[in-house]
Amino acid sequence: MDVIMNEKRPPPPPAPDPVETSDLDFIRWDEARMTTGVASIDEQHMELICHLNELHRAHLAGLQPDDIKKILKFLGRYAESHFRHEEGIMEERLCPQRKENRLAHAKFLFAYQELVSNFSIEEDPDQIAEEIKNMAARWLVGHICRVDAGLRDCPRIAPKENGNPQPPTSSL
Ligand SMILES: [Fe+2]
Repeated sequence: MDVIMNEKRPPPPPAPDPVETSDLDFIRWDEARMTTGVASIDEQHMELICHLNELHRAHLAGLQPDDIKKILKFLGRYAESHFRHEEGIMEERLCPQRKENRLAHAKFLFAYQELVSNFSIEEDPDQIAEEIKNMAARWLVGHICRVDAGLRDCPRIAPKENGNPQPPTSSL
């Protein structure tokens, strides 16, 4: 019997690295509920979780307001760039959640930036840091599980050839 050896399949994308966790973590990556099936987005969500945990640890350690502010600004910039990336992918895949996702991102950034501005002028930075941390963590977990995870059902759309639409391919 002939064995076909030359049928090549593309290698699977690398699995995201597991998120480092410790007892001081505020939130944790939950593979079953949070994975979107898009490696770049899952990796960025894990990064966001890491940065939120960093903020939490800095807050617990009583870091100076200026240092907390640096983390807050970085977190805001990272979230903004991640949102752009994710919105592009949802648009490409014609994901039904894409409009809801864009709106949710814009609302989050507005609320986040307002809280960060208050952090600079607030008399009690400790309390506002607590508020920002809780708001961002609650929003992120709920949003990933409820909106972003919708990407699992949106396969990648193959590019058109000769003007003929191609059927969707697997998302991986
Ligand atoms: Fe999102």
